Amino acid sequence: MAILPIVTYNDPVLRKETRKVEENSDELQTLIDDMFDTMYNSRGVGLAAPQIGQDIRLFVMDTDAVTEDIEDEPDLGPMVFINPEILELKGDKIKMEEGCLSIPDVRDDVVRPETVTVKYLDRNFEQKTIELSGWPSRVVQHETDHLDGQLFIDYLSAFRKRLHRSLLKKINKGTLKVEYPVAEKVGS
Ligand code: NI
Repeated sequence: MAILPIVTYNDPVLRKETRKVEENSDELQTLIDDMFDTMYNSRGVGLAAPQIGQDIRLFVMDTDAVTEDIEDEPDLGPMVFINPEILELKGDKIKMEEGCLSIPDVRDDVVRPETVTVKYLDRNFEQKTIELSGWPSRVVQHETDHLDGQLFIDYLSAFRKRLHRSLLKKINKGTLKVEYPVAEKVGS
């Protein structure tokens, strides 16, 4: 069990192509445990492997902290998604405010389809397919984007992005005070 430093905006690993996870191993199980520790420590509801510097297709999620007060959303508990594949996106386009542990303090509205169907391996390498709406759908779409080198701020208009510019600069320089461990900037 360990809390890993989270890599932040402009670190190249966040933009890198990720590899499929080929097999289960003790190392993989330890990594998954560490990712949960890291996510809970930073009060996140999702964490993708590139965010802790690993270029593999894996993310963890636990949306209970946000769904427990919402009557019609299920509490799913901790979930592991290995090699996730989005099979279908449907429903209304919903605007929700997103944030990202790799882009601390930056929050903004992102529009995404309401419902996602995702196929994945759970941590026991069992093949699963699940349809999700609400917060879990939002997190699955955000985290799968991470595995494709995409960040939520990529969806923002140039105008909205400009509003976050000084904060993004601070994150890049490593001068923003963050309440959880972050990876040192390359070259800093
Ligand atoms: Ni994120």
